[in-house]
Amino acid sequence: MAFISKFNLQSSELSVIIATLILIFLVRVIFSRPWNPSKLPLVNGKKWYELGYGGVEKRFNADTKGLCQSGFQRGRQKSPDGFYLLTASRPTLVLPPKYADILRNDSRLSLSRVTAAEFHENLPLFEPLSYIVSDGRVIPKVITHKITRSLTSLIPRISSETEHALQRVWKNEADWHQISLRTSLDQIMAQIQSRVFLDDELCRDPSWLQITIDITKTLFLAARALRGWPDFMKPYLAHILPLCRKATAELNEAERLLEPLVAKRRAALTSDIESDSDRLNTIDWFLDASHESVLNIAYLQLGLSVVALETTTEAVYNVLTDISSHPKAIHDLRAEIRGVIGKMGLNTSSIQKLELMDSVIKESQRMSPLGYFGMQRKALDKIILPDGMIIPKNTFLTVSTLHMLDSSVWPNGEEYDPYRFYNMGVNGEKTPSNKFIHTSSNHMGFGHGKEACPGRFLAVNLIKTILCHILVKYDFEVTGQEEYRREARGYNLIANQKLEINLKRHYEDFEL
Ligand code: HEM
Repeated sequence: MAFISKFNLQSSELSVIIATLILIFLVRVIFSRPWNPSKLPLVNGKKWYELGYGGVEKRFNADTKGLCQSGFQRGRQKSPDGFYLLTASRPTLVLPPKYADILRNDSRLSLSRVTAAEFHENLPLFEPLSYIVSDGRVIPKVITHKITRSLTSLIPRISSETEHALQRVWKNEADWHQISLRTSLDQIMAQIQSRVFLDDELCRDPSWLQITIDITKTLFLAARALRGWPDFMKPYLAHILPLCRKATAELNEAERLLEPLVAKRRAALTSDIESDSDRLNTIDWFLDASHESVLNIAYLQLGLSVVALETTTEAVYNVLTDISSHPKAIHDLRAEIRGVIGKMGLNTSSIQKLELMDSVIKESQRMSPLGYFGMQRKALDKIILPDGMIIPKNTFLTVSTLHMLDSSVWPNGEEYDPYRFYNMGVNGEKTPSNKFIHTSSNHMGFGHGKEACPGRFLAVNLIKTILCHILVKYDFEVTGQEEYRREARGYNLIANQKLEINLKRHYEDFEL
């Protein structure tokens, strides 16, 4: 060949050149990372000797915060534009907060698609969660159009059930006694939320309460157990893995317990002797929403508890552990309750006037958001940000929440200050950013933007009502050191299940 003779090559030399070119091509293909066109660092990559993703997942679960911090502090630049973090599921683009406002209303980003991927949307096991993410989005719609609009009518129900649940679980003893904080709050919150949603005696049925508490945890663990496996294997594994089998059994049991109530409400909907207040419950709302299609009403109810229960319980846990070591705040909160609720009673307007309580809850959420990843989204299309950063289609991304504890964002950001947001209000901040339900790029406890938590209006009313009852009726001390109270596990920052609370009855000169 002319080429060989021109360069005077032997055929063996030619083979070496061709082999080298193929090798270079393969190396480029393997390391080109088309998912990372902006050449951002990769954190928690696989070690050369690791075959599967076990090590990646282990490191991610053990030190999420450390991995995020190291991602932002790579190289000489202190806060680069972000990095990719490898988890067992996939690489996730972790962005700093400067992008939160740019991305918050971008319709090319979807939270639903993240939930769908994390909870294996095509597996029947996770059907309760599919009602959050599927096209009809029945659960978010019922929250926004029914629950939030009915809050005024729901407060008396929340308050009376809180009273009952506290007496049942925390008792009325005059002497100090100790109880597990997180486990007891699970029971209390499950009862209150079941009453709010179902308005039926089922809310006091121990089997129902236990199953609603268990199902959330089991579904999360089962979803995690399936991540990292190839998609084609998941339908089979869902029948085999012990956690998946446990979740299936719990779903069946929950459905069995709910079925008589669903049948009762279905029959009642055709009768016209009921008043509007009899129809103030989520089973009726779900039946209304599913009039044309065949939806599993029990699964809709379970999907609602999955998003509502753990989140709100953790919020109350965080407030109690934080204010326990601030006697002045407890004293001032009681004075506020006396001044507002003692005069106006518990209703949506008086609850809004509990400004110190609002500050206390928001500050606890600032210190302990659900996790270090806010605004989890999937890119439905390629996005080019104003500074040129390219986010390829199908990228999973998140905005880090680490800055919520940063002193450059909040003065003395690492310290818990129950008065922080209250003082902002007193000092006449012009924006409503000191309010618990308000989201911002600096405080993403409820996420941020068009997909921020739709349940936050119910959450604030629930949490404040429960705290009013606790503060008026109990003296309490939470045991255990600060660092012992929460731990980061993967995406989530979670309560220590073993922490105890010391309790005794407290008396005020007014009743709720
Ligand atoms: C203090 C309690 C709660 C916290 C901290 C919380 C937090 C969050 C967060 C961070 C998100 C993601 C938002 C985003 O990425 O922008 C979210 C979504 C969601 N939350 Fe909450 N939440 C709470 C209570 C509730 C309650 C009580 C309900 C139901 C009544 C609820 C229903 C939902 C739903 C359905 C979504 C998904 C929305 C969607 O896919 O568009 N949450 N929540």
